[in-house]
Amino acid sequence: MGKDVIIACDFASAEETIRFLDRLNKIRSEVVRCDDISVSVSRPFVKIGMELFYAEGPGIITSLKERGHKVFLDLKLHDIPNTVKKSMQVLGAYGVDMVNVHAGGGIAMMKAAREGLMLGAARYAEKPKLIAVTQLTSTDEAVMHNELLIDMPLKDVVKQYALNAREAGLDGVVCSAHEAAEIHMTCGMDFLTVTPGIRLAGDSKGDQKRVMTPADARDQGADYIVVGRSITAASNPIEAYQTCRADFIG
Ligand code: C5P
Repeated sequence: MGKDVIIACDFASAEETIRFLDRLNKIRSEVVRCDDISVSVSRPFVKIGMELFYAEGPGIITSLKERGHKVFLDLKLHDIPNTVKKSMQVLGAYGVDMVNVHAGGGIAMMKAAREGLMLGAARYAEKPKLIAVTQLTSTDEAVMHNELLIDMPLKDVVKQYALNAREAGLDGVVCSAHEAAEIHMTCGMDFLTVTPGIRLAGDSKGDQKRVMTPADARDQGADYIVVGRSITAASNPIEAYQTCRADFIG
């Protein structure tokens, strides 16, 4: 997998999700066909979160895979190692391309997650990527100190959790694009940084605290950007998606 833009499909139902993607795919095919008849259009990489997965079940993954999309299943597993291993085995069998756990579950849990995922995905030639959430962007230093009793600077905790993920054999972490360069310096350039909190210039930040444009995320060395509302709520989603790709990948 190379650098890519992942569309966060935070829709309430499978129907709404498929309607949005079918519209995007139809327009994209037409745009590319006009430019060059020989170019085949790859379908966008998409992210499915807890809300949609719990509402629709695994059928949503099958539908998206059948339509040619790569799927990042963002369920952020966090439980005892044995439970996470068995659950990951189930998710691996769905044919997901990327899935995640909370690094806060510890190294043994992350190792178990990897084992389970690889068992589940045994029949797929291309193995899914397993990444870890370091600290949620909703957890700030005050929450960490006062509620979780973690008495270290947030950036040191993020770095240590990324190192733990690497030690457990994971492929990378979900992090802010602001942290991507430092995580690459600490964990190596081949350790993936998957970065939400992306906005096209001029878009509203919404509930995100620290945002970055696709071009700035590229300059920070992010491997994947996760973009939701800047694409899904745009008046012209195809143009927004193409702009994200052009700015991020070139
Ligand atoms: O609409 P927006 O671009 O803000 O969506 C970002 C997506 O990335 C959402 O699906 C959100 O849940 C997810 N995400 C995030 N911050 C994290 C982890 C995931 O924004 N730390």
